[in-house]
Amino acid sequence: MSLLTVKQLNITDTQTHQQLVNGIHFQLEKGETLGIIGESGSGKTITCRAIMGLNDPRLQVEGQIYFDGVDLLQLPNQLLRQRRGGDIAMIMQQGSRAFDPSSKVGKQMFETMVMHTDLSKKSIEAVLIKYMQFMKLKDPEQILQSYPHMLSGGMLQRLMIVLALALKPKLIIADEPTTALDTITQYDVLEAFSDIKKQIDCAIIFISHDLAVINKVADKIMVMKAGVCVESGPKEAVLFSPHHDYTKYLLSTKQKINHHFKLIMRGEGHA
Ligand SMILES: Nc1ncnc2c1ncn2[C@@H]1O[C@H](COP(=O)(O)OP(=O)(O)OP(=O)(O)O)[C@@H](O)[C@H]1O
Ligand SMILES: [Mg+2]
Repeated sequence: MSLLTVKQLNITDTQTHQQLVNGIHFQLEKGETLGIIGESGSGKTITCRAIMGLNDPRLQVEGQIYFDGVDLLQLPNQLLRQRRGGDIAMIMQQGSRAFDPSSKVGKQMFETMVMHTDLSKKSIEAVLIKYMQFMKLKDPEQILQSYPHMLSGGMLQRLMIVLALALKPKLIIADEPTTALDTITQYDVLEAFSDIKKQIDCAIIFISHDLAVINKVADKIMVMKAGVCVESGPKEAVLFSPHHDYTKYLLSTKQKINHHFKLIMRGEGHA
């Protein structure tokens, strides 16, 4: 049995009657990373939020989302909330939004750990510090005593990953987790992402616009356009011998940008 099976997922805006996601299906095995790519507005985020049960109520979700054999769309809200954060963790684009500005980050992380695990206070602290070290966060004790505004976007993003790791979920959903970061921090966070599976045994769904990023982290890829999946398969097949015109277009655009960048670096480009 797969860890996650999404079948015939449809998402409709009940106010405009517009169908935003149409017949999406995919499977994710234990330990696998699925990369989702596609243009802005293609439905990547609402597909993943549907798995978490986090979409705006005006968006009607239909289909089946089997997680560990249980259809999440049939679960009452309270049980779904328990799954969320315990079995499934989500890392969003902006770490700063995930934290309450009025309370110290350590306190917030601690409360989440108490809610979703049976660990003692001492063990929680030890596990948070262990993963903070893994995420190359210096002076963990001091960071835990800080308010969110005292930390950079990159640090808050790393803390979200620390929390996701500490909760030992079966599935981590990362929605453009590096987009808001500068290039160097982005690189560091990505490196850590590719090492996550050495730390915990989990599956990952990783959403990104960036094909290079997807190439680094994913085992298989789903390409979305206007609410439908236009192509999916193992990473090598999708990136190196794509079938659909849209995937070919995405790849050729990427190649053009890379070529242009190389010319600029050699002083031959017209920026
Ligand atoms: N709460 C909402 N109410 C109505 N429409 C919504 C809502 N949230 C998203 N949508 C619409 O659903 C479609 C898919 O949005 P989604 O955020 O999933 O795109 P995306 O692929 O994640 O794009 P991006 O790459 O920009 O993050 C868009 O047309 C968007 O306008
Ligand atoms: Mg999105």
